[in-house]
Amino acid sequence: MPINKCSNESLSEFVDTSDEWISKRSGIKNRYFVSDGETTSDMAYNASCIAIKNANINKNDIDLIIVATTTPDHTFPSTATLVQKKLGINAVSFDVQAVCAGFIFALSVAKSMMSEKLYNNCLIIGADSMSKLLDWNDRSTSVLFGDGAGAIVLQKFECNKNIYDDWGILSNVIHSDGNFYDLLKTNGGVSSNQSTGFIEMTGKEVFKHAVDKLSSSFEEVLTFSKKNIDEIDWLIPHQANQRIILAVAEKMKIDINKVISTVKDHGNTSAASIPLALHKAIRTNKVKNGNLIGFNAIGGGLSWGASIVRIGKPQLL
Ligand code: UT7
Repeated sequence: MPINKCSNESLSEFVDTSDEWISKRSGIKNRYFVSDGETTSDMAYNASCIAIKNANINKNDIDLIIVATTTPDHTFPSTATLVQKKLGINAVSFDVQAVCAGFIFALSVAKSMMSEKLYNNCLIIGADSMSKLLDWNDRSTSVLFGDGAGAIVLQKFECNKNIYDDWGILSNVIHSDGNFYDLLKTNGGVSSNQSTGFIEMTGKEVFKHAVDKLSSSFEEVLTFSKKNIDEIDWLIPHQANQRIILAVAEKMKIDINKVISTVKDHGNTSAASIPLALHKAIRTNKVKNGNLIGFNAIGGGLSWGASIVRIGKPQLL
């Protein structure tokens, strides 16, 4: 996370809002903002170093870097190539852009590429500086977002299929529907008006789609994985709004105690939200090696999807 913490009270000093409104409508209490000069690739690099250390691998073993981001340092080249340069390694590097669903899309792309046997160690990073897209005069969006980055390392194991076919990414599903393009977008872009623009969102509509599509994609991925909801140890949903998280849990009939929620601590960090929540869940000893984890996310596009992953290293059990 960047170091600049901003509470609802602090935000209320320059946005026409209140801690009461933000807490009640979204569950958010704090968010973090990048410092002057701090970029998405800086946060992505810091998260990568932690992920590589925790994976206990040599950084030179990484052969694929995928950064999920909507807020690149530059329009081009990709932020992933900057992370590669900062890490000082050789790896195929590129960005994926699926806004808040970016981490799920990156998992899906990585799994396909690794299945083709070309890559063995993939660094996946979700990183966004959403504060750069906020219009402080729009209180309906500016209170919801924050900046951050989270990263994981995906490793390919050559192993006995009978024992290990229940490990790693079991299934991903991804979807998009451009008919809902206008519900959540920026009002700028390189080819439209040569600006980055600010976030515009039809909140109530997005809310309904979020509850519906987060639930349906998770049902789908459970079916693909041949799992039922009771077998899931933890659900780590996109961290946008506590009310959405609760509504999805209720719809999915999953015990709320199995649902990781960190939205209170950092607001909606877009592509960073799932890996940040995962990191916190591991650090607080909730998620453990061998757990079966569900992820689901939705963002602009609309783009959405879900994954089921048995996390950790098989040989450590
Ligand atoms: O990451 C992608 C996914 N994004 C999401 O999932 C976001 C989905 N949407 C939401 O989370 C919710 O729709 C919001 C949190 C954005 C808004 O909650 P809501 O219950 O749908 O509120 P609303 O937009 O209907 O606004 C209700 C009232 C309005 O006042 P009136 O017209 O009823 O007098 C707003 O003007 O709240 C007012 N309002 C605020 N008041 C204080 C809107 N924003 C604020 C604010 N502070 N920040």
